[in-house]
Amino acid sequence: MTDPLSSTSTPPFPPDSGPSGCLITVEGIDGAGKSSHIEALAARWRARGLDVVCTREPGGTPLAESVRELVLHRSMDALTEALLVFAARRDHLQARIEPALARGAVVLCDRYTDASFAYQGGGRGLSLGVLSTLEHWVQAGRQPDLTLWFELDPEIAALRRGAARTPDRFESEAVEFFRRVDQGYRDRFSRRPEHVARIDASGTPGDVWKLITQALELRGW
Ligand code: TYD
Repeated sequence: MTDPLSSTSTPPFPPDSGPSGCLITVEGIDGAGKSSHIEALAARWRARGLDVVCTREPGGTPLAESVRELVLHRSMDALTEALLVFAARRDHLQARIEPALARGAVVLCDRYTDASFAYQGGGRGLSLGVLSTLEHWVQAGRQPDLTLWFELDPEIAALRRGAARTPDRFESEAVEFFRRVDQGYRDRFSRRPEHVARIDASGTPGDVWKLITQALELRGW
């Protein structure tokens, strides 16, 4: 049986390979290693003459970066956390993402709403109905054209996170939390599989980069 979430699933993207204004997001549990590949992806597309905006959530604007500091370092309940990440997202969309897409840029975003469903929904147990309402209010239908999902076993991700740096509020959670986050991602991505390229993040950085480029080449990138 064909795995609907494999990187070889039906390619819906892009409508053409020119700079047509695409939102590409990168997701995965902490420790999956996505951040180290985002700059390389931006360089790949810039080398082709594309206007690339590299950004992240929560964050991406001065206001949203201030919110990021609160969310990552101050203690709060799950609903407050969700309201803050969506408030940051609203500012990011209005001030940075939508203007970039309107001028035809490729926006490459380290996390987006799928992370809210995985972390606040799966991880913290917040109602998915509440998250859907926030998504509807905040995004006005703006969804990623493609999501690269770095998939890694939560136990391995925990080993990789190790003692690399002082952990933030999420990174210091137990492995059980990341199992719920992982399940949150699975549930969420099963709803739009054609927009998701699953990348097996268990290999070396070189192996992972190869899988990323294969997934993009399948889509004409
Ligand atoms: P992350 O993207 O992993 O950045 P870094 O690699 O610099 O640590 O950190 C952001 C954290 O924010 C991550 O642990 C997940 C969390 N997060 C949410 O809980 N909800 C969200 O909607 C978003 C975008 C992120």
